[in-house]
Amino acid sequence: MKKEVISPWEVSGEVNYDKFIKEFGVSKIDNKLLNRIKKHTKELPIALRRQVFFAHRDLNWILDEYDKGNKFFLYTGCGPSGPIHLGHLGTWVFTKWLQDTFDVDLWFQFTDDEKFLFKNKSYEEIQKWTQENMLDVIALGFNPKKTHFIIDTKNANLIYPEAIKFAKKINFSTIKSAFGFTNEKNIGEIFFTSMQAVPAIIPSVLEKKNIPCLIPLAIDQDPHFRVARDIYPKLGYYKPSLIHSVFLPPLIGMGGKMSSSEDKIAILTTDSPKTVRKKINKYAFSGGGKTTEEHRKNGGNTKVDVSFQYLKMFFEPSDKKLEEIKKKYESGEMLTGELKAYLIEKINEFLKKHQQKRKEAKKNIDKFLIKNQ
Ligand code: TRP
Repeated sequence: MKKEVISPWEVSGEVNYDKFIKEFGVSKIDNKLLNRIKKHTKELPIALRRQVFFAHRDLNWILDEYDKGNKFFLYTGCGPSGPIHLGHLGTWVFTKWLQDTFDVDLWFQFTDDEKFLFKNKSYEEIQKWTQENMLDVIALGFNPKKTHFIIDTKNANLIYPEAIKFAKKINFSTIKSAFGFTNEKNIGEIFFTSMQAVPAIIPSVLEKKNIPCLIPLAIDQDPHFRVARDIYPKLGYYKPSLIHSVFLPPLIGMGGKMSSSEDKIAILTTDSPKTVRKKINKYAFSGGGKTTEEHRKNGGNTKVDVSFQYLKMFFEPSDKKLEEIKKKYESGEMLTGELKAYLIEKINEFLKKHQQKRKEAKKNIDKFLIKNQ
């Protein structure tokens, strides 16, 4: 097995989520906490029912404050370096659920600076992806009255004065050890965590009072906040709470996270029904038997079967149906081809709507952009 690495810019090997919880001192989302969240909603979303969001920092505190009438706001983001794929959507769909359920504002950061600094891509190309990626976020149905897009280089007048306050309190050795940086890193990369820290205080800065912040994120983003959470109180703000998700596995197998740079491993939100069919049939790692006979005899392994995992993590809302598929697949009654066909239909149904809404989003971008003061 490959060595396991989790940082914002590298996720490889098979991620051991329990080890992540232990090593980084985050808490597991247990039944007690789920029941507490349930008080605010009719039904828990898949993301919580099926442990896609599985860990947190200080979520009880956010709920305590909310119960006292002190509303939080949400903050999450997107690094615009390429097309959006299914792996990005989990966090954002869950964020939308939180926005609707708790009726709260969302601040959404596009880190075009980050992607320019970390990727071998031109500034112009990153700007193009920023525009493209905004369409996908809008297409998910966020409330334009309560959703505010921050683009780092475009809203620098708001972000930069706060970023330097973080930067002044974080030293190079902290960043080096949090991210495993070596001396060859460019100096923009070293600074970047201070930019990602800022949106968690922006509403407090603008309203001149402390407002609690909840950040839904995939676990690879935790190191930024591990570093920054020590700084917020020093600047007079609350530490933001975090809620962490696992990664949707890449098509070709369970280790690592999806990335749009490789065709084989991700389904893009702009893929045609035909492309989806081709990618799933050709690449989606199967936990089924090598031959039909073997499969009929021994059944399939749903734990490593990527198609089953996609249904579980995103595409099959019915617990009953999922259980039925699990039984049939594990007993060998259902073949990999049948499982894949079912998933392809689900993905294409979702993408058809998404692509329509993505088209309509073009005329609405302005409603989400924050105005420079
Ligand atoms: N750095 C993240 C990425 O590369 C984008 C991001 C910015 C983000 N702020 C965030 C993600 C807050 C989660 C929470 O995708």
